[in-house]
Amino acid sequence: MAKSWVNSAERIGADLHLELSGPGGRRAALTRALRDAVRSGRLAPGTRLPPYRSLAADLGVARNTVADAYAELVAEGWLTARQGAGTRVAERAEPLRPAERVAPRSPRTPPRARGPRHDLRQGTPDVSAFPRAAWLASYRRALQQAPNEVFGPGDPAGRVELREALTEYLARARGVRTEPGRIVICSGFAHALRLLFAQDTGSGTGTGTGKDSGAGRGGSRGVLRGPLAVEAYGLGFHRELLAAAGVRTVPLPLDEDGARVDRLTRERAVLLTPAHQFPTGGPLHPERRAAVIDWARARGGVILEDDYDGEFRYDRKPVGAVQGLDPERVIFIGSVSKSLSPAVRLGWMVLPERYVDAVLAAKGEREAWASVLDQLSLADFIVSGAYDRHVRRMRQRYRSRRDRLVTALAEQAPHIDVTGVAAGLHAVLRLPPGTERSTVKAATWQGIALDGLAEFRHPEATGSDMPVRDGLVVGCATPSEHAYGAALEALCGVLPPGEERGSDGG
Ligand SMILES: Cc1ncc(COP(=O)(O)O)c(C=O)c1O
Repeated sequence: MAKSWVNSAERIGADLHLELSGPGGRRAALTRALRDAVRSGRLAPGTRLPPYRSLAADLGVARNTVADAYAELVAEGWLTARQGAGTRVAERAEPLRPAERVAPRSPRTPPRARGPRHDLRQGTPDVSAFPRAAWLASYRRALQQAPNEVFGPGDPAGRVELREALTEYLARARGVRTEPGRIVICSGFAHALRLLFAQDTGSGTGTGTGKDSGAGRGGSRGVLRGPLAVEAYGLGFHRELLAAAGVRTVPLPLDEDGARVDRLTRERAVLLTPAHQFPTGGPLHPERRAAVIDWARARGGVILEDDYDGEFRYDRKPVGAVQGLDPERVIFIGSVSKSLSPAVRLGWMVLPERYVDAVLAAKGEREAWASVLDQLSLADFIVSGAYDRHVRRMRQRYRSRRDRLVTALAEQAPHIDVTGVAAGLHAVLRLPPGTERSTVKAATWQGIALDGLAEFRHPEATGSDMPVRDGLVVGCATPSEHAYGAALEALCGVLPPGEERGSDGG
């Protein structure tokens, strides 16, 4: 039977697997295996081989078998044996003959795809501003202070340290009313949607019946059921994710006051971005906020509040969470994807009490998504004040980016309205009807990456209820500081020209 041996790193440095198989007995098999290891480079020149006794013990062969194999390879020139220096791989082991040459390895890092010259897509914070030193300090403190049980399986609710920190932070910064027992940690907004709408294997028709029937009945899958009302403009990725879970989404028209919540009908749940409608911009009007709470109370419905960039407000007064109006009617969902980095993959759901058990059941018995060490780091990051400092710094930076965009447009394209700039990391440029597609095309030709509003429109949003809007969604955060001016310059260069004024106009 074939025998194999994996050496330990401290004995000969690199991990090596020897397979003793093939014809000719164990000595021949070991000789062949070692020769192949040297020839292929798995045993590098100068590497010290283990003493006869330990290799023999590892492989379950006689000590003499190893001694004979080493001797043969020394004789062939593959190994050297010197008194006091042990047996080593020869420094100039025979080069590979051409026929044996292995194909060149592909480089470890794949070649970088050439990106656009100017990246004005929304979605990413300024990645150059990740607070590396402060995050590292929090990570170190968290690791030093963590009790041993942290390194065992994690609680699916998330670490209590983080839930406590979020309870205080969300109350202070976003007006969220909750307690640690109502918070479930997840890996971000998308994960929260997956947990809430995990494909339902039950026999429900999808609409639910009776009061509060948005809640799943029994079973660990599908806390909520569709159809789900969503804003007529939103993130296609979320709609697709819901569709993949079998959830039908129904578009709600938008106007200058936000989502037309008066159009909610048979749906049991509605997904909104009340602080900063994504992507068109404005906050949900206070009357609409009150109206959607009334709807939820009257119909036993639930509001999913996506607070994706609630911290980044500039001109207007802070817009608190709708959740604060009625914590039993709103599932408030946030993440660090815009405030810190989408690479951290940490988010939170603030739940009405009646959903807590079902969401925990959907998560399973142990934490399987959000690293417990990262959770503790984020808890420290928040409690130490580093999160507030970072958000304040980024708010200033994004505000200045926003100001530069507005100024550039006022100077170079004053006929283009810019909206949605009171908050967030992106703006919407309103375009003359029928010009969006050609403008996006022109931008692409000029190496500018950005999206047209059409990208975000719900495919079932129709006609008079929700007239098509021509526009560009412009992210302000992605280009590096030194490249931003050139990106704005390029952007202004591809915008449709304004109407010519009559010669007597003035
Ligand atoms: C509308 C919207 N919601 C939520 C999020 C956050 O998503 P996640 O937490 O899954 O990264 C984003 C992107 O950051 C977003 O654009």
